[in-house]
Amino acid sequence: MNVAAVRSDFPILSREVSGKPLVYLDNGATTQKPRAVIDKISRFFEHENSNIHRGVHYLSMDATDQYDRARERLAKMINAPKTCEVLFVRGTTEAINLVTNSYGERLQEGDEILLTMMEHHANIVPWQILAKRKGLVIQVAGINENGELDLDDFSAKLNERTKVAAFTHVSNALGTINPVKEMTRLAKEKGAMVLVDGAQAVPHLRVDVQDIGCDFYAFSSHKMFGPDGVGVLWGRQQWLNAMPPYQGGGDMIEQVSFAGTTFRGIPERFEAGTPNISGAIGLGAAVDYLNEIGHEKIELYEKGLLDYATAVMSEISGLNIHGRAADKVGVISFTLDGIHPHDIGTILDTEGVAIRAGHHCAQPLMDHLKVSGTARASFAFYNTCEEADTLVAAIRKVQKMFA
Ligand SMILES: Cc1ncc(COP(=O)(O)O)c(C=O)c1O
Repeated sequence: MNVAAVRSDFPILSREVSGKPLVYLDNGATTQKPRAVIDKISRFFEHENSNIHRGVHYLSMDATDQYDRARERLAKMINAPKTCEVLFVRGTTEAINLVTNSYGERLQEGDEILLTMMEHHANIVPWQILAKRKGLVIQVAGINENGELDLDDFSAKLNERTKVAAFTHVSNALGTINPVKEMTRLAKEKGAMVLVDGAQAVPHLRVDVQDIGCDFYAFSSHKMFGPDGVGVLWGRQQWLNAMPPYQGGGDMIEQVSFAGTTFRGIPERFEAGTPNISGAIGLGAAVDYLNEIGHEKIELYEKGLLDYATAVMSEISGLNIHGRAADKVGVISFTLDGIHPHDIGTILDTEGVAIRAGHHCAQPLMDHLKVSGTARASFAFYNTCEEADTLVAAIRKVQKMFA
């Protein structure tokens, strides 16, 4: 992969912060956008803007067509059996809330939901709200000292009362890639529905929902080089057809009268109101961009980058890496002895290095690790080994300041 060429596709990467070249290592929070996505969105607003599904005029039909084609690209990207199974939502958070609110209706008191210790709050809190409303029981599968899922514990916590297993494909705080195919198989053996949170997987890995075998797969555009405010919930047609609407309003109905309303089929019944049209089209452009580079190339390059960054960071004494899974994406969560993660983040920023510091919306995981938070450097395919060196030099500066 020609990283210099790739970097030139991302205008923001050539700017400076604090008088230093920007080293953007906060990709777990959000990724930067390539020119192709930026141009697609501005072209839409400059020349093509219209609402979808309503107009009989050229612009509306064109916008509808582009929106539908974006859905097709996403279906192809995750190997969804049917395009209509791809729902546009606001992001991973809304995707999971859609499932808990709609699919969740069928759950009954005493039913169990199995989560893991490494979930983002987006895959904990919606289930807790549902559990409180319905009298459900939440079980949590543990992790080992490397930050890998304890598959035996996961398996042991599955039983005939388990109606849902919901887990992340990739941990945002540790970088761990979970064995989602095996986890899905185990959960399905017990008859549980499986939801996979793919927010941190889609920017790094080729995802195949049919191969995983799950029932729902959720992800956000902004974490995969697309615009924010849009994301995807993929769900099996058989479930989506059987689920009640999540929100009511325009575009999702067949017939409305004060006597009652009938709803459209999928995907429209789950896309009430005017959706994020430009966002979906921009996301479609991000899919095209990723396809052009190629997922295999991205995975290979990022693996080398992670190995390099891990090696150079491991040489820093007093630096502890949290999460040393054998199967990882380019996320390095770390603490420095005696230095608060926020101080690390603030000082790195003066060197132009952007990282995230805090609990990463994974407070139960932080409690388990017995830390209040960590500093997290999260890499994308446009980052380089030189940037990892800059990070290391900046961390050494932090240590000197606190020595
Ligand atoms: C693993 C994981 N799940 C869910 C989310 C929530 O995504 P969003 O805020 O885009 O809805 C995130 C965001 O950081 C995440 O990392």
